[in-house]
Amino acid sequence: MMKKNTGLAIITGASQGIGSAIATGLANDGYRVVLIARNKQNLDKVYDEIMKLEDHVPEPVVLPLDITDYTTVDNEIRNINRQYGAIDILVNAAALFMDGSLNEPVDHFRKIIETNVVAQYAILKTVTGIMKTQKSGYIFNIASRAAKYGFPDGGIYGSTKFAFVGLTESLYRELAPLGIRVTSLCPGWVNTEMAKKAGTPLKDEEMIQPDDLLNTIRYLLNLSENVCIKEIILEMRKSII
Ligand SMILES: NC(=O)c1ccc[n+]([C@@H]2O[C@H](COP(=O)([O-])OP(=O)(O)OC[C@H]3O[C@@H](n4cnc5c(N)ncnc54)[C@H](OP(=O)(O)O)[C@@H]3O)[C@@H](O)[C@H]2O)c1
Repeated sequence: MMKKNTGLAIITGASQGIGSAIATGLANDGYRVVLIARNKQNLDKVYDEIMKLEDHVPEPVVLPLDITDYTTVDNEIRNINRQYGAIDILVNAAALFMDGSLNEPVDHFRKIIETNVVAQYAILKTVTGIMKTQKSGYIFNIASRAAKYGFPDGGIYGSTKFAFVGLTESLYRELAPLGIRVTSLCPGWVNTEMAKKAGTPLKDEEMIQPDDLLNTIRYLLNLSENVCIKEIILEMRKSII
């Protein structure tokens, strides 16, 4: 039986980790998902996984893009909007991690700001423009626990996430009256490649799982449209700070 098409969801960082879990889950819920990341091979794997889901789901759209290529991202999202109509959900999960506070050359800091802040700004500019015309939409910005607490030796990554949450909080207030809801999700360690590369001290099973983010989004989507939630902080039971 074909699933009821519940709309269109764009997910950045959809090639692995949190983004791929959210994309697969939303596809399973009946959304046509638009998968954005740089690595086409990994995006194709997520596409194949979705196409293998038990019930028929709307065919995903694979968009291999670097989100720092703002003009292309803007054009592609506008094409998607023309082809498939309303954008119901945007999940911004793409980001880079970088260790340390002042140890990197300035240009490395600029690179992470470019991905974690400027590219998010650009995609939000395009998508909120479309959502304002629709007078509807839900935006989930995957920030981090590091957006709420300045970890020692975490100033580079943390500052990009503080900025992202700051932008999100303003949009939360600006867009709610226009029918668009925006929520920051701020998880601690999540069991993905990023946590491993960043040297998490936790075992896989002690971390937040990518599906916890998916289920948080499902919970928010199930609330009535009268409810706005600015942010959700997810911590690990084993190491609450
Ligand atoms: N894992 C954690 O412990 C943790 C904790 C808190 C918050 N977060 C946040 O959760 C989000 C997802 O992280 P994750 O753990 O799933 O990390 P991940 O496994 O490293 O995945 C990051 C994703 O971002 C994409 N990406 C990076 N730069 C990109 C670019 N320039 N253009 C397009 N896509 C790009 C990557 O795909 P390509 O390489 O294919 O482009 C990948 O799909 C991030 O915002 C991260 O900061 C993670």
